[in-house]
Amino acid sequence: MAGVRFSKVYKRFGDFTALNNLDIAVEDKEFLVLVGPSGCGKTTALRCLAGLEDVTEGDIFIGENRVNDTPPKDRDIAMVFQSYALYPHMTVFDNMAFGLKLRGVKKEEITRRVNEAAAILGIEQLLKRRPRELSGGQRQRVAVGRAIVREPKVFLFDEPLSNLDAKLRVQTRAQISKLHQSLETTFIYVTHDQTEAMTMATRIAVMNKGVLQQLDTPKHLYDFPANLFVAGFIGSPAMNFFDAKIRKVDGGAVVDINGMALKIPQSKVATYLPYDGKSVVFGIRPEDIHNPEFQPQNITAASVEAKVDVLELMGNEIILYLVSGNNNYVARVDPRTKFAIGDKVSVVFNMDNMHIFDPSQNAENPVAVR
Ligand SMILES: Nc1ncnc2c1ncn2[C@@H]1O[C@H](COP(=O)(O)OP(=O)(O)O)[C@@H](O)[C@H]1O
Ligand SMILES: [Mg+2]
Repeated sequence: MAGVRFSKVYKRFGDFTALNNLDIAVEDKEFLVLVGPSGCGKTTALRCLAGLEDVTEGDIFIGENRVNDTPPKDRDIAMVFQSYALYPHMTVFDNMAFGLKLRGVKKEEITRRVNEAAAILGIEQLLKRRPRELSGGQRQRVAVGRAIVREPKVFLFDEPLSNLDAKLRVQTRAQISKLHQSLETTFIYVTHDQTEAMTMATRIAVMNKGVLQQLDTPKHLYDFPANLFVAGFIGSPAMNFFDAKIRKVDGGAVVDINGMALKIPQSKVATYLPYDGKSVVFGIRPEDIHNPEFQPQNITAASVEAKVDVLELMGNEIILYLVSGNNNYVARVDPRTKFAIGDKVSVVFNMDNMHIFDPSQNAENPVAVR
């Protein structure tokens, strides 16, 4: 068992920078999820850690050891790929045993480890089948089994659920979480799916364009995104953003969106007053916009007039697409709401959960003001 550390790691392909000063310390036994859009460098980070790519600059540590010059087979890590990469002509047993045979592990030991892994994954009855005789979910488990038998210090997963249908993905997600608990080993898991990240991770590293954006617990990432990118990436439907100005008023301050003034809670006024008169981005999550009829008690509510553009009945909630002036945004309201398309309605923003992002330092990715 071991932690893992990327220290100031750069990976360049020609003049393209795939990893840009990556600094991540993964603790022993942690379940760290690397999440970000396609092409942000997730697979590259795993491949550098596994030794399948050399880093251009910087150091990678597994436990106490700097492994930059350690060949992949000596790094004591096992990787589960998106494609599973099972050998089609081999049985499940042989697929799982293959790596151990190559390493010269004794036959009895191989049998013991394969049977143990098969029991953990509930695939004992499949050991004699070949991959083509398995469902997608079963293949996925064989690929995980092949990693388990190696008894590695660190498990790497690269989008292992992306070939499964939605229902199986949810089940397998829970199984992988359980697996992590029972193996008590460091997991580093890559996905572009923020739901997977939120549900499985002990901590999440959000990446964009090769740059680490924020490394935090799921809850803290959700409640306190460090910048506009993270705020928009984590959460579904995504946080709403409005171009706005902070304006000082008698006894406090407001967020001014094209003349629509939303009162800032007293407790936050001091934080935002330095931005008086400045252009900012105002952010509010869909679940913080309520039908006034069902709004929670004791919130700092700002009333907003809106037109209902689209309405999605989900059963447990209603997703509203609203228009106020030239702003389009999304609300997630109580399922008892009786709005109809085209209605002019009032909704309330829960300003206790408002976010402000400052574009003055980084126009492309404004930083959260706290
Ligand atoms: N061997 C390579 N040669 C050139 N560019 C590469 C190579 N591998 C990856 N890249 C580029 O690096 C970026 C990151 O790729 P990758 O790590 O696979 O992204 P992700 O896994 O986050 O989708 C992409 O733009 C990709 O095209
Ligand atoms: Mg990838």
